[in-house]
Amino acid sequence: MQDLVENLEKYSISVKSEINNFLSNISPNNLKKASIYLTESNGKMLRPTLAIIICEAFGGSQKNAIKTAAAIELIHTFSLIHDDIMDKDAIRRGKPSVHKVWNENIAILAGDTLFSKAFELISSAKDDVNSTDHIHQTIATISDACVKICEGQALDIEFEKNFDIKKDEYLEMIFKKTGALMAAATKSGAIIGGANQKEIETIYEYGKLIGLAFQIQDDYLDLVGSEETLGKPVGSDIVKGKMTIIILHTLENGNPEDKEKLINILKNGKEDDISEALNILNKYESLKYAGDLAKKYVDDAKKLLNILDDSPSKKLLLSIADFVINRKK
Ligand code: IPE
Ligand code: IPE
Ligand code: MG
Ligand code: MG
Ligand code: MG
Repeated sequence: MQDLVENLEKYSISVKSEINNFLSNISPNNLKKASIYLTESNGKMLRPTLAIIICEAFGGSQKNAIKTAAAIELIHTFSLIHDDIMDKDAIRRGKPSVHKVWNENIAILAGDTLFSKAFELISSAKDDVNSTDHIHQTIATISDACVKICEGQALDIEFEKNFDIKKDEYLEMIFKKTGALMAAATKSGAIIGGANQKEIETIYEYGKLIGLAFQIQDDYLDLVGSEETLGKPVGSDIVKGKMTIIILHTLENGNPEDKEKLINILKNGKEDDISEALNILNKYESLKYAGDLAKKYVDDAKKLLNILDDSPSKKLLLSIADFVINRKK
């Protein structure tokens, strides 16, 4: 775990400096500031770190992957800025959200700028990668994830206060909004590292599984995390009537009276009702159910890493899988 923390910090510094250099020529100044703002706060940098470590696991170097990794973090940052507009969340990474510091119009444009800059950055990697074909493949991989993020976010909104949603629909939604970019990060690392087709597919699956577990843990932390540690609001999903696996489990297993209470809380969206909702969810052990499901995905993801020979990179990938569900932020 200490190894992982040190590596996240190490890669964070390189990715951040790549991002800073690349965003320096945006204008006007207002748009530049709004675009850079979130990249200067403390994100976990999980996606770029995954891309770099996986590239190294297949024999590539950090230099081979750095621009693509930084681009993936820009895509992630764009998705956070737009997500906070859609979720009406005022805090992100411990600071006021972009749309609060500026306004929604500037926040939409800052997100669009980061999105576009990401593809410009990947396209400029030809002196770093071993084959320009890797650039074409990573652009295809990452643009596929971007479409999936939009699809997943559209489903996320469609599922709000929709109490008939089933587990498979929830899983499709979280794969698209969160798992797809994580999987694109791992797949890009494998492509740039020179992995073969079978290995690339396996590594995509690893990213997908830890991505699913990551979002389940995110939904869990939204209920029981600390706002100070998370750097974003707690209970936001209850207030918005979001469908999470924890809610779904109680809706499927609760008695009619508790189900009705929970549905009313989700419909009314009052912050004062969050602890009452939590009591009902705990009565049916729905948080434990979600934790067990996330653990299963993590265990399956770790098994897929058997395709790699033992190495420090493989060890880090195993600990990232555990980190996804043990994290408090
Ligand atoms: C938050 O992602 C958005 C989700 C996909 C749940 P992270 O938890 O990776 O956010 P940062 O980058 O560390 O702030
Ligand atoms: C976010 O899901 C998925 C994205 C594509 C950003 P959430 O809405 O649960 O993420 P947080 O909790 O705001 O970070
Ligand atoms: Mg959100
Ligand atoms: Mg959201
Ligand atoms: Mg969340």
